Order: sequence, then structure tokens, then C-alpha cells
Amino acid sequence: MIDDLWYKNGVIYCLSVGTYMDANGDGVGDFKGLLRRLDYLHGLGITAIWLMPFQPSPGRDDGYDITDYYGVDPRYGTLGDFVEFTHGCKQRGLRVIIDLVVNHTSDQHHWFREARRSKDSFYRDWYVWSDKRPANANTGMVFPGVQKSTWSRDKEAGAWYFHRFYDFQPDLNTSNPHVQAEILKIMGFWIQLGVSGFRMDAVPFIIATKGANVRKPVEQYDMLRAFREFLQWRQGNAIILAEANVLPKTDMEYFGRDGDRMHMMFNFHVNQHLFYALASADSRPLAKSLAATKPRPATAQWGLFLRNHDELDLGRLTKAQRNAVFKAFGPDKDMQLYDRGIRRRLAPMLGGDRRRLELAYSLMCTLPGTPVIRYGDELGMGDNLELPERNCARTPMQWSTEPHAGFTEGDRPCLPLIDKGPYGYEHVNAAKQRRDPNSMLNWTERIVRMRKEVPEVGWGDFRVIATRDPAVLVIRYDWRNNSVLFVHNLDERPREIAFAVGLPGDAGKLLVNLLSEDHSRANKRGRHRLLLEGYGYRWYRIGGLDYLLKRSDIDSDTSGKAAQPA
Ligand code: GLC
Repeated sequence: MIDDLWYKNGVIYCLSVGTYMDANGDGVGDFKGLLRRLDYLHGLGITAIWLMPFQPSPGRDDGYDITDYYGVDPRYGTLGDFVEFTHGCKQRGLRVIIDLVVNHTSDQHHWFREARRSKDSFYRDWYVWSDKRPANANTGMVFPGVQKSTWSRDKEAGAWYFHRFYDFQPDLNTSNPHVQAEILKIMGFWIQLGVSGFRMDAVPFIIATKGANVRKPVEQYDMLRAFREFLQWRQGNAIILAEANVLPKTDMEYFGRDGDRMHMMFNFHVNQHLFYALASADSRPLAKSLAATKPRPATAQWGLFLRNHDELDLGRLTKAQRNAVFKAFGPDKDMQLYDRGIRRRLAPMLGGDRRRLELAYSLMCTLPGTPVIRYGDELGMGDNLELPERNCARTPMQWSTEPHAGFTEGDRPCLPLIDKGPYGYEHVNAAKQRRDPNSMLNWTERIVRMRKEVPEVGWGDFRVIATRDPAVLVIRYDWRNNSVLFVHNLDERPREIAFAVGLPGDAGKLLVNLLSEDHSRANKRGRHRLLLEGYGYRWYRIGGLDYLLKRSDIDSDTSGKAAQPA
């Protein structure tokens, strides 16, 4: 059971084939290159790779505009290379999930070309049309500032078509049974080729009713159940990880009250409040967001992330909270995007401060869910704000000090490598960090290993433990008679805190530190007192090692002295 539900206690790593490793020197990463890097990923300890879209595409939205769902873009290799890659993953016990982008196609997809050709085309009804310009054409844009409308006129069709995203991404009419059947067929195809599931793109838009007369789109949640059922008939342990930035009150609609819809969802709600907590050193809104997203079926799981390939979307914070995050992490206009977010990478946002980076990662690994790491963040890679929109945080992986960071032997990388400043590849690269036991890379490897050893986080029930200090978040997990406890100091100043673990009897007397020898024993009143360094964090297993209870050198009042880097 534990291992069947592999996504409950895994660590996911996302990457884009095109910017990871180029084997043939044409400047574009490919499956052959990625295959060579599987031992690196295996060494990092991740359990699943999430591949961003790699299917044939004109590449106007980094592959999220697909022209053929059943192929591999020739720049990345062939279907044969893809199968070699999934085989290599299987050999190492790594799972693969891939992006499933079925809210829309590229306008170059043959379905759309056929559809626009004539009203009688079989594919006409695969898209969403209107003879006249709909009244709401100027509303609902996902990329405000860049995208001007959600309906555009197609000359050839003599009609308007709906596009929730850019105008070159016509929305599929997902209510059409033919389209629904095709979506299942796409899933079935890739499952057959060895993937363990899908990161489903833009789910709320896929299931929404679409059309010129739709004033308020209605979600057709039953579609989610149909996707899941199909998947599980074909392969029992395959999953869907939904991209759905929705309000907590609708979470259960996505998971399904009986756990019969999405297996996983990204926790956008916690993500935004986590950044607010990091910006303000106030853990209370974060604790609230954890409580708000707590209800979920036992088999469901949150995907927890810090940064992804898109902007850090702060749209669900209050204006004051959002401004606080902008001020701390993206004060300049060119760091911000779409009136709602920050487009930078994690390390530059946190000023390259190793203590803060560890704090952020430690939180991601210990909040309820399965962590999702963005490629390059394990090295503390930076961004290039000269590149447009979200591309600034999509630069190629920095492998070594060789030209173009060892990403390509060619002289024209698809996106420029970061070669200037403190995040330039001469300073930040995998080869260098591999040799340094204290590097971010080796720290990440250790924290990933430890995260996998505390399945309580993935499986257990959690509660936030009260302290009097809003700068400190204490969270306890219980699962199968085991408990673990995590403490994070969001403030740059040291804090002293006292708390009771809250378990009956002697159970919470001893906190065994999982990352250092700095254990803690409760005082006579059953309270632990900790002295936490600025941005300090602790991972404890509760009780267990009885012999430690007898050791006199462990005393709650003196513990917490050491700021041991893990
Ligand atoms: C999702 C992707 C984003 C893409 C959009 C359109 O939000 O994460 O990168 O641009 O969908 O497919």
C-alpha cells in the first residue's frame, strides 16, 4: 500500500528537455543528453521526473502549444529516444510524469487547420467558435498585459475562436465527446510508452463550459473522474497531478470526496502564503493556509513547490500581502509579471542567502505534501531578466565551467546561459558543487534523503503547534504511532521559543534531531525550550531512542545552541 501510492512520499523534479542537456551539439537539449544525466538525478535522490511538453510544437509558448500529441519534437529526438529514456529511468527506479496540455492546441495543429477550413469539417466542433465577436472578448485573459483578448477572428474560418491563453492557442471544445475520447487516447498512448502519469495543464479551464454565450463558466467535475477511471483501468498506479490554482473551498471538488478524481494538485494556496511568510517573518497566514487546504481524501496528495517554470503567482494574497512579497522579493517592475507575480528564480529572490534558501527548502520538504523541485534550484541557479516574460527563469542547466556551462558543445544555445555576476555558470554549476561537501547541491541531496525517511509528512495527519512567537512555525505529524516535528524560524534574528509537543504521557519528552546531535529533552513541565538561530530550522523525530533519555548532556534548556548546517 505505501509503495503503491508512490506519489504520497516521493520527491518530484521538473525539467524541460530542451534546456537540460544537449547531446548532439545543436544547442537544444535532447533525450539523449537527458539520458546521460539520469545518474545525476538518481544521485540527488528524487523519485520522479516531470517533463514539460516535448511534443512537436512551434514553440511559441515553450511547448505548451502542441501540434502533435503522439510524437516527440525532432529537436529533442525521436520516440525511440523517448523510450530509451523511460527505460533508463525504470532501470534506476525513477518514475516519469509528463505534461498533458489538452485545454488547447497550437493553431498549427492539423485539427485546427481542418476546423478553420470549413463549417462542415469534422474538426470544426473540436474548437469553440462564434460568428460575431462575443461581448466578453476582452475578459478572462490569463496573461494580462501581453494577451489582449480571449477571442480572435480567424479569417479563413470567417468566425471568432476562443483562446483562454495566447491567440495561437485555440481552446479545444472539451465538452465534445470526440475531444474527450481523444484526451483518453493521448493518455493511453504515453502510458503504454512507460510514463507513470501526467501533470495536467490548466485543469479548471479544461473542465469549464466554454462558448460565446457562457457568462459564468461552470466546472464539469465529472470529467475528472472519467480521466482517472480510464487511467486506472490502463495502469493502476498512474496518477494525475493537476495544475489548478483554485480556492480551498473547491479543492474537494478536484480531489473528489471519495478520492475518485485528481490524485494530486499543486498547492498554489500554500505556495503564495509561504512566500508571504518568508517575506514578512509571520507564520500565521501560512498556518491558516495549511488549515484551509487540510481537507483531502486519504489517497490524495498536494504537490508542494517553491518556484516553477511560470511566474510566482501572488493573485490570491491580499493587496497588502502581495505588496509585501513584491517589496521583499521583486521590487523592480521588470521582476514582476502579469500584474500578479514575480518571474525570478528562487535564489536571487532570496538574495542568494544560503540560510534563507535552506529555510525555504526545508519548509517545502516538511509542509504537508510531496515536494516538487525545479531543475537548477538544487544549485541555486539565477535568472536573466533581459529575457522576455517567463523565459528569464528558463535558462539552460549549468553543469560545469566549460563553455556554455557544459550544456552544449555547439555555439548557439537555444537560450543564453547565465555567464555574468554571482549566478554565472563559472560560480554556480553542478561539477563544482559536486566536489564541495557543503554545497547547495550536496545539502539538497541530504535533505531529499531525509525527507524520504520521514513518510509521516507524506502520509500523516498534521497539526500546527502553538508558540507565542509568530515568527516560528512548529508543525507535528502523526502516523502509525510515529510522530515527527519540524520547527522553522522565519526571522533573521535568533528566537527563543517554548512549546509542548502535545502528545499524552511521556511521548513528547524527547526530540531526536534528525540533522544534527542537537537533541532536546522537555523540562519538568513537559515543555521544550529551543534557541533558534536566524532562519534556523530543526527536524525532530519524537521519542523513540529511549537510551537518549538517560543521557545527561541532553537538556532542553541548553539545547538549540548549535546552528549546525545540516
Ligand atoms: C500553464 C503552464 C504555462 C502555459 C499555460 C498555457 O499555465 O504552466 O506555462 O503557458 O498553461 O498552456
